[in-house]
Amino acid sequence: METVVSGIRPTGKLHLGNYFGAVKNFLKMQKEYNCYFFIADYHSLTTHPTPGDLHGNVKQVLAEYLACGLDPEAATIYIQSDVPEVAELTLLMNMNAYLGELERTTSFKDKARKQPENVNAGLLTYPVLMAADILIHRAAKVPVGKDQEQNLEMTRKFAGRFNRIYNQEYFNIPQSFNYGEELVKIPGLDGSGKMGKSEGNGLYLADDEKTIRKKVMKAVTDQGPTEPNSVMPEPVRNLYTLLEVVSTPDTVEYFTEKFNSCEIRYGDLKKQLAEDIVKFNAPLRERILDISADAAYLQKVVNMGKEKAQASAAKTVKEVREIIGFKPF
Ligand code: TYM
Repeated sequence: METVVSGIRPTGKLHLGNYFGAVKNFLKMQKEYNCYFFIADYHSLTTHPTPGDLHGNVKQVLAEYLACGLDPEAATIYIQSDVPEVAELTLLMNMNAYLGELERTTSFKDKARKQPENVNAGLLTYPVLMAADILIHRAAKVPVGKDQEQNLEMTRKFAGRFNRIYNQEYFNIPQSFNYGEELVKIPGLDGSGKMGKSEGNGLYLADDEKTIRKKVMKAVTDQGPTEPNSVMPEPVRNLYTLLEVVSTPDTVEYFTEKFNSCEIRYGDLKKQLAEDIVKFNAPLRERILDISADAAYLQKVVNMGKEKAQASAAKTVKEVREIIGFKPF
């Protein structure tokens, strides 16, 4: 059975981008593949969380994974830092990752521009840590959103390079995966770009009704179309993209027709969108609260995941050490 690996950084609550870009596929894949889904807490250190925030955020994402329906019996659900073998594999892979290619990645350049006061080495080698996450279980498939495409490309590069240097077909060359479709990009509410945790444009799974309605009603739009069948401007297109993921096809068709015939009232569109997001969130929100309060269950899940993930990781690191040439005396 093919192996699947994916992770999410614990830097706050999960938003609809995380859900429709990643978690939705996790739910299906856990029934069909050998899955490892983890919480990328090492990765989150690039933004310097306080010790209290770090633990709280990990707990929140774990509860949210479980509330969404990730099944700890079917998939291995674990916390990245519970598997320090990942750090060793990162160190080994770093030896064949080159400064030029790391500096050229879009996410590094973006972060360096946005937080010039904190361009740490962890940001630079982020793609190597991500490659180690994936290669440590020798994954074939990686369910992610569109924003992770370049990181996946780096993983393929590092895996292929390792295989070539040591003249072995050891690592799979992992592919990004979305059930035969394009990778998803869920937009934010601020008119441009993707929904993200740090952008302040996100709708969270744990948001309550009032918060959702308030955020959606404030979303950026424009004056409305003046000619029939005109091209949708990006902010409006974004609202329709959100509608497509949470509403029925009939609803999407109804509002598309309204736009095309210049009869659209954005207030109505937003009300409907908010309504459907509230409907989508309500059961999740309740389960998140229940599961967060069940410390014994969370602990059980974490222990189970740690054991399974460590067994797989330790095997890979042992084999990689042998391939590289470490030998016992
Ligand atoms: P992160 O934590 O930013 O996001 C987690 C997952 O959610 C997807 N995602 C989106 N998909 C569509 N539209 C959006 N607006 C959107 N925002 C987020 C991401 O594509 C991702 O699948 N580097 C990764 C975490 C990571 C990882 C890994 C992933 C670390 N190691 C190994 C896969 C395999 C990240 O920062 O994702």
